[in-house]
Amino acid sequence: MQVTLEELLSRAAEAAARSYSPYSHFPVGAALLSESGEIVTGTNVENRSFGLTICAERSAVCAAVSRGLRRFSALAVSCPEADYPVSPCGACRQVLSEFMAPEAPVIFRGGKGESVRTTMGELFPYDSLHELAK
Ligand code: THU
Repeated sequence: MQVTLEELLSRAAEAAARSYSPYSHFPVGAALLSESGEIVTGTNVENRSFGLTICAERSAVCAAVSRGLRRFSALAVSCPEADYPVSPCGACRQVLSEFMAPEAPVIFRGGKGESVRTTMGELFPYDSLHELAK
């Protein structure tokens, strides 16, 4: 991988600075690395009808797919206001699994600099999409 996970995390942090989160005050940024080597970012977009909130990770997936990118080899998530590294929510794990292999690295970092590195498969095991392909 030419782009490092550290670089991907800093792109995620830049995206978090563009968060629209007036209700939670909890900015999140996500950066996806496409298999073709492009970085696409997303941020959380909240709404006064709270259930309509879109997480940073799904925001990044929608941006990337809209640009014609469908396969991602890594994901970084930055939560600059969090006391600890925050992992993608369940809904986002389901959506990400559609476009990422179980081996793909995922890294997430909180506001204190601490980060966790894992994989898509660890976050979303027994994924029917990939199980069927075996
Ligand atoms: N959020 C994300 O964007 N991604 C995550 O992984 C966790 C939660 C957002 C949703 C909402 O705007 C705010 O963080 C608080 O939950």
